[in-house]
Amino acid sequence: MTGIDSKLKVLVDNGLKDLNHCSDEQAAETWHAKYLGRSGAIADLMRSIGQLDREDRPSAGQAANEAKATLEAAYLDRRGRLDESSLARRIEADRVDVTMPGRRLHDGGLHPITLTLRRILEIFRDMGFQVTEGPEVELDWYNFEALNIPAEHPARDMWDTFYVQPPSVLLRTHTSPNQARVMQRSKPPIRIVVPGRCYRYEAQDASHEWMFYQVEGLAVDAGLTMADLKGVLVAFAQRMFWPEVQCRFRCDYFPFVEPGMEMSVQCPICRGSGCRVCKMSGWIELLGAGMVHPQVLRNVGYDPDAVNGFAFGMGPERITMVKHAIDDIRLFYGNDLRFLKQFN
Ligand code: PHE
Repeated sequence: MTGIDSKLKVLVDNGLKDLNHCSDEQAAETWHAKYLGRSGAIADLMRSIGQLDREDRPSAGQAANEAKATLEAAYLDRRGRLDESSLARRIEADRVDVTMPGRRLHDGGLHPITLTLRRILEIFRDMGFQVTEGPEVELDWYNFEALNIPAEHPARDMWDTFYVQPPSVLLRTHTSPNQARVMQRSKPPIRIVVPGRCYRYEAQDASHEWMFYQVEGLAVDAGLTMADLKGVLVAFAQRMFWPEVQCRFRCDYFPFVEPGMEMSVQCPICRGSGCRVCKMSGWIELLGAGMVHPQVLRNVGYDPDAVNGFAFGMGPERITMVKHAIDDIRLFYGNDLRFLKQFN
C-alpha cells in the first residue's frame, strides 16, 4: 500500500459530498477548480505519484485516473441538473399571464388644427369645392398686386409682411394669392378651397401668432351673387357648429372684394348670451368674404362682364379656439403635449 489509495478515497468522498452542496453554477465552477482544476486536489495527487517507488506508480496512476473520472462524471451530472433547474427558474420568471388586461401604447394623434382643417375641407368638399394648395413663399404680385393692392396702397398696412427678397419675394400674409393663381391656370366654373400656412410680421399675444393657417375659398361662374356666398357660408357654419347656429353679416373692407363683409357666428360657448370668449358680445367674427373685385378678374385676364365670383378666407385657429373655448392662440404651436393630447 502506498497510502495513495486511502487519500484518493477520502478525496472522492469529500468531493462528492461537497458537490452535493453546490446549489448554483458558480458554486459548481468553484468546486471544479478545487478538485479537478490544474492546481486542484487530483492534479496535486497525480504530481505526487512521481515520488513513489517505480513499481507502485502504475497502479497509483490508474487509481488516480479512476478517482478523477468519478469526480468528473459526478460534476457533469450536477451541472446538467443545475442547468435544468435554472432554465426552469427562467421559464417561471418569464411566464406571461395571458389573462392580464393589455397596456395601451400611446400611438400619437393629430394636431387640433389638423383636425379642424380636415373637418373644414370635408364640409366644402361635400358642397362641390375642390381642394388645392399654393406656395408659402410667394411673389408680391400674387399676394398684393393681383389682389388690387398696389405698392403704395394704404391697405398694405393691413398685412405686416416678412420679406424673403424685398421687394418682390415674401412669405404670403394670407391664402388669397391663390385666388389669382387658380384663376390663371383654370377656366370658370371654379369652386376651390385652399388651406395653408400664412405669416405675418407681428408681435405675438393671446390672439396673434406670426404663423397661422387660413382656408381660402373661391367660386367663379356666370351670374353668382351675394346670396350664393351667404348660402355657402351659412351651410358651412351649420355643419361646423350646430344646425341652428345664427350667422351675422356686416360690411367690411378688403381691396380684392366689392362688396366686402365679415361673417360672425353666435358664440358656441354661451350660444349668444355673452361670455369671456366672445367678450360679452354673443358673437364671434369668423371670416372675411365678398364678391371678387372686377379689377382682380381683369388682372388675371377674365372679363368681369361675363363672369363674376365670390371669395372668403377663414382662420382654423380661431374656429378651433371657439369650439374648444381656448383663450390663447400660442398654445397651438407651443408643443406642450399636455395641451395637444386632449384632442385625440
Ligand atoms: N385674405 C383676407 C385676410 O387675410 C380674408 C379674405 C379672403 C377676405 C377672401 C375676403 C375674401 O384677412
